[in-house]
Amino acid sequence: MVKIAPSLLSADFTNLEKEIKKVQDAGADILHLDIMDGHFVPNLTFGPLIIKQIKAISKIPVDVHLMVTNPEKYLETLGDWGIEYVSFHQETVFHLHRQVSVLKAKNVKTGIALNPATPVETIFSILSDVDFVLIMSVNPGFGGQKFLPLVYDKIKKLRKFADEKNPNLEIEVDGGVDDKNAPKLVKAGVHILVAGSYIFGKEDYKKQIQSLR
Ligand code: DX5
Ligand code: ZN
Repeated sequence: MVKIAPSLLSADFTNLEKEIKKVQDAGADILHLDIMDGHFVPNLTFGPLIIKQIKAISKIPVDVHLMVTNPEKYLETLGDWGIEYVSFHQETVFHLHRQVSVLKAKNVKTGIALNPATPVETIFSILSDVDFVLIMSVNPGFGGQKFLPLVYDKIKKLRKFADEKNPNLEIEVDGGVDDKNAPKLVKAGVHILVAGSYIFGKEDYKKQIQSLR
């Protein structure tokens, strides 16, 4: 069963608690939080203080997507707070195994995120040590961007390799996800669909989530 993870980036931030409740009631499985530092990506969002407060009110698992140049600064703390899923970008760390082991020690579902132009081959040697891989289907930084179809081949390649090395590996896709590409993504091997602008700001969140599912 595919999991739907609304990305709060497209929510109304003046009514955050309301928005979180709305997606929960609409059947969301996971809450996706985009952490941007203005260095790794050309945008800023929010940091640990707000993550902690969101975690305290969320009734569904929280998924923190770190788009920051120094993810190692935050990993242990996120683990201590009981964040269920954390991913950081392959492009941001020199020692993948070292950072992965920090999260694993805290029993966090550990993921590596890849920009559209980063080949999946770059993480083959670490696949058996992680729980999921986040495939970016837009260049990270903003919601509402156009989906890049190049990810289908990446997902298929990753799925094939994971079947040998780590059959339980989950694949998450993030960026431009809608009801048109969702079926093809799931068929290619995706387990978690992140969607921001497809859900938030729309008339009926339940309808949006159901149409993805
Ligand atoms: C982009 C973020 C995404 C974003 C997705 O850098 O990682 O999570 O919110 O938004 P949509 O679904 O609108 O492309
Ligand atoms: Zn994201």
